[in-house]
Amino acid sequence: MKTFKNLESEVRSYVRSFPAIFQRAKGAKLYDEQDNEYIDFFAGAGALNYGHNNPLVSEALIKYIQNDGIIHGLDKATTAKKEFLETFHNIILEPRYMEYKIQFSGPTGTDAVETALKLARMVKGRSNIIAFTNAFHGLTMGSMAITGNAFYRDEAFINRTNVHFAPFDGYYGEADTAGYLRKLLEDTSSGLDLPAAMILETVQAEGGVNIASNQWLQDIEQICRDFDILLIIDDIQVGNGRTGPFFSFEEAGINPDIITLSKSIGGGLPLAIILMKNQYDQWKPGEHTGTFRGNNLAFVASTKLLSYWETDNLTQAVHYKEEILKEKLNEIIGKYDNLNASIRGKGLIYGLQIPLLGFCSEVSTEAFNQGLLIELAGSNDDVLKFLPPLTIEKELLIDGLKIIDESIETVLNERESIVEGNNHDSENN
Ligand SMILES: Cc1ncc(COP(=O)(O)O)c(C=O)c1O
Repeated sequence: MKTFKNLESEVRSYVRSFPAIFQRAKGAKLYDEQDNEYIDFFAGAGALNYGHNNPLVSEALIKYIQNDGIIHGLDKATTAKKEFLETFHNIILEPRYMEYKIQFSGPTGTDAVETALKLARMVKGRSNIIAFTNAFHGLTMGSMAITGNAFYRDEAFINRTNVHFAPFDGYYGEADTAGYLRKLLEDTSSGLDLPAAMILETVQAEGGVNIASNQWLQDIEQICRDFDILLIIDDIQVGNGRTGPFFSFEEAGINPDIITLSKSIGGGLPLAIILMKNQYDQWKPGEHTGTFRGNNLAFVASTKLLSYWETDNLTQAVHYKEEILKEKLNEIIGKYDNLNASIRGKGLIYGLQIPLLGFCSEVSTEAFNQGLLIELAGSNDDVLKFLPPLTIEKELLIDGLKIIDESIETVLNERESIVEGNNHDSENN
C-alpha cells in the first residue's frame, strides 16, 4: 500500500475503503496478492453487471487481439463497431420498437451526460435544465452542475447556473413532487425558466437508492410533453439489466427523448453511448468529437454480452435473486430492530439504510475484513448499497448476505463494549 500512499494523489478513494491490492477476479469474486478471496457486492460501481472476466468477453478479446483487430479508431468505421451497432439495434432497440440514433461520446458516463445536455440545449435553443434532488450524473463541469451532493459541488468554483433542482419522488414524504413541478411550470410568475430538458435517474443509486415510482415517471413524462421539454433518462448505473429489464424505465412504459448508457454497456471496458430519438439527431458532422469515442475492445465485449438479451433469462434471474436479497435484508432489519433500519430497491440494486452516524461505514469496513466489498450511498453515507453482478451465483449472494449480517452484529457489539467501557471508566472516576 506504500506505493499508493507515496505516489498516488490524495484524491484516491476506493483504495481507502477496500485496502487490498487486487490481482485477479472472476465472476463475483476478487482475489488480492495474498490470494485472499472477496465477494463483490460493488461490481465496479455498476460497470460489472455481467461479472469480472465474463468468459464470453475474455475469449472474444483474446481472439480479436490475436487477429490484430483495430484497437483505436476515433469514429472511423470498423468491423467491431459495425457488429456492435447491428447487434444493439437488433437485440435491444428493434424488439422494443425504439427508433433511436446511437452516438458515441468519450468513454465515461459523465461524457455521455455532457453530450446529452449539449444536444438538448442545442435542439431546444434554451439553456435551463431541470435536475432532481440527490441526483448524481458525474463530475465534469456540466454533469456536476446537475449533481446534488455538496461534497462534489463544493470543489468547483465555477458558474453552475442554468440548472433548477426539483424535488425527486419521495423527497418530501408523500408530497406530489411532480404536481409541484407542473405548478411551477404553469405559473408564469414562479421564476422558473422553461428548460430545454429534464434529466433524471429512475433509481438514484449514488444518491441513496431512491426509487421513482412508475406513476411519478409517467407524470414527469407527461409534463415534458405538455411543456415541450426533452426527457433525458440517465441509465448509466441502473440500465443494462440492473433493475431487471435492459432499460430501467421499461416497466414505467415511458419513452425518453435521450438516454445515456455507460458502465456495464462495455462489460467492464470504457464505453458510453447516447441514444436520441431520430428527430433530435441534429448534430452537424464533427460538431461534437473526442479522441476516444467508441472503444473497439469495448465494442467486441459489448457485442458478446448483448447476447444475454436474446431471451429474458437474465431478467428472470435478476427477479429471482432479488427475492433472496429482499428476504434476507428484511430478516436483518427485523433482527436488529433497535437500529431503525429500512430497505428499498429494485432488481439487484438495494439500499439498507441505517440512520446511525458512521454505522454503515463501520459495517462496510468490517465486511471487507470478512471478505466482502460493499459501497455506501446517500448524502450522509447512511445507506449500504447492494450491487452484486447480475450473474452472481445464488450461493455466493447468500454467503455475502451472511457476512453483512455478521458485520452488523460485530459493529453493534463493538459499539456496546465502547459504551460499557465508558460507563465503567466514569464509575471509577
Ligand atoms: C447515474 C450516473 N450517471 C453518471 C455517472 C458518471 O459516470 P462516470 O463515473 O463514468 O463518469 C454515474 C457514476 O456513478 C452515475 O451513477
